[in-house]
Amino acid sequence: MTEPFRFLTAGESHGRTLGVTIEGVPAGLALTEDDLAVDLARRQRGYGRGARQQIEHDRAEIVAGVRHGYTLGSPILLLVANRDWENWTKVMQVEPLTDEEAAALVSAAAAGDKRSTPVTRVRPGHGDLAGALKYGHDDVRNVLERASARETAARVAAGGVARAFLKEFGIDVWSFTAEVGGVAVDPAKASRSREEADASPLRCPDPDAEAEMIARIDAAREKGDTVGGVFEVIAEFVPIGLGSYVQWDRRLDAALAAAVMSINIVKGVELGLGFEQTRMFGSQVHDVIEGRGEAGRWIHRSNNAGGLTAGVSNGEPIVVRGAVKPISTLARPLPSADLLTGQPVEKAHYERSDISVVPAAGIVGEAMVMLTLARFLLEKTGGDSMAEVRDSMERWRERLATPLRPAEPTAAAADGGTAGSGGDD
Ligand SMILES: Cc1cc2nc3c(=O)[nH]c(=O)nc-3n(C[C@H](O)[C@H](O)[C@H](O)COP(=O)(O)O)c2cc1C
Repeated sequence: MTEPFRFLTAGESHGRTLGVTIEGVPAGLALTEDDLAVDLARRQRGYGRGARQQIEHDRAEIVAGVRHGYTLGSPILLLVANRDWENWTKVMQVEPLTDEEAAALVSAAAAGDKRSTPVTRVRPGHGDLAGALKYGHDDVRNVLERASARETAARVAAGGVARAFLKEFGIDVWSFTAEVGGVAVDPAKASRSREEADASPLRCPDPDAEAEMIARIDAAREKGDTVGGVFEVIAEFVPIGLGSYVQWDRRLDAALAAAVMSINIVKGVELGLGFEQTRMFGSQVHDVIEGRGEAGRWIHRSNNAGGLTAGVSNGEPIVVRGAVKPISTLARPLPSADLLTGQPVEKAHYERSDISVVPAAGIVGEAMVMLTLARFLLEKTGGDSMAEVRDSMERWRERLATPLRPAEPTAAAADGGTAGSGGDD
């Protein structure tokens, strides 16, 4: 069965434009280009980013699927122009090169123009070698142009559509930088509000930790090196019941992990306490269920599961952490080998690069989480128009808030709740 909500991106890093098609957005959702601009600008910020961000001023153009400010139910097509393309028009030309144009590129390369020179010194940590061999390219540019995380601008544009959709149902997704270069936020010192943290150089809630993180980035820059870190995405007010335990590919936890892992640079994903819980006792880990609270809402005493149990949202905030590896392109390049000769070379290819991108990766993380939640919400509610989705959601929320039985002591509560439930292999 086709997924109710899906998206595909296209575009090269220095091509004319990036694009993304999003299918399955119900008709009647209010959507403007300004809605999409906010997250695109947030993705471009962050201490440790390189010169490319000064060139680009990302804005998504809505070219299909919206009329008079409302979605039509038809596929939405967004374009995000690459301003830097103007510096690459010949190198990235779509049409075949004439003999003169090809000769001009060869002589520019011979004169030392790096852009015009085919890339063959494959870069460790990048898809250069595996990608070139897989697709039979003798110029690594054909790989790096698409493997580049410039593509994540298109994902963030699509994420803006998902944000507008989720907002209609009160679902709020945000993120912060939890760790950079081995320096972690101390929750006790996280004194900044969400807005203050978002506006800070590393999108970090703990000012002291942020100062140390900045020092680590500066030290790496000094040495021609790079650093990684961790971002945390939180999705609040997600209703109980998105995802399912009945089949592996219907689990929301698995889909979120895959979505965040798909971000170029993410090498690990944790949900809730993640790996930490493997070092704790079960009694310290599992979230005691308090019962129903205000407006019939189910309450857990803690949220170590990160809002997901058995692949289903449990009503608590969903918490997803992404592990960001240190940037692969080093100003002081590592040794490598030449793709054509197979011989070692002293230095891998270098192309203008960031030093750390944890704050930006967090924004991409938000986008991937929102796009996944939008899909699972539509899987739960169905609906071709916003009116239908709203009706369905309202009914679901009412059902969730309604007790199955009037409150009175149950047999389980009377005997201390010790009745066994059987094994769980
Ligand atoms: C927002 C963002 C910006 C990035 N910028 C760079 C960069 O400037 N230089 C670099 O080497 N890698 C950068 N990356 C990561 C690479 O694209 C990525 O590590 C590479 O394509 C290899 O893929 P992998 O890390 O998933 O294995 C960036 C990633 C993100 C999410």
